[in-house]
Amino acid sequence: MIAIGCDHGGYGLKQEILRYLQEQKIPYKDFGCYGEAACDYPLYAKAVAKEVAEGKAEKGILICGTGIGISMAANKVKGVRCALCHDCFSAEATRLHNDANILAMGGRVVGPGLAVKIADIFLHTPFSGEERHQRRINLMEGEDGNEN
Ligand code: RB5
Repeated sequence: MIAIGCDHGGYGLKQEILRYLQEQKIPYKDFGCYGEAACDYPLYAKAVAKEVAEGKAEKGILICGTGIGISMAANKVKGVRCALCHDCFSAEATRLHNDANILAMGGRVVGPGLAVKIADIFLHTPFSGEERHQRRINLMEGEDGNEN
């Protein structure tokens, strides 16, 4: 299951991504927001991030105006590796190298065609599993015995 959320700046693009998920029969849970009234992106970021960190969702997608605020907020949740991607190369690379578990995009930055392609790549690219990438993820997650 894919957890998805947005703020008002990402609402329109989220509708396009929802259409793609439905067409592809990819199960999802929509954590809001549900309209274009101004709202606070950290609330939706935290809801989706928590779902992913607790293993209830396999991956997440977060959309705000720029993708910046919502990705910053998601990355405050331990175990979340949220990648802000506005191109296909980054979407593939962050799955292969960082095992990113949440994709963030900006609804005021990318058009729907590119955004759907980015989401498709993100959802279908597996982690490479290579030792050097896993080691770096472990270091990032503080699983090396050090706090830094
Ligand atoms: C809302 O206007 C906007 O600040 C928000 O969607 C996002 O871009 C923040 O990073």
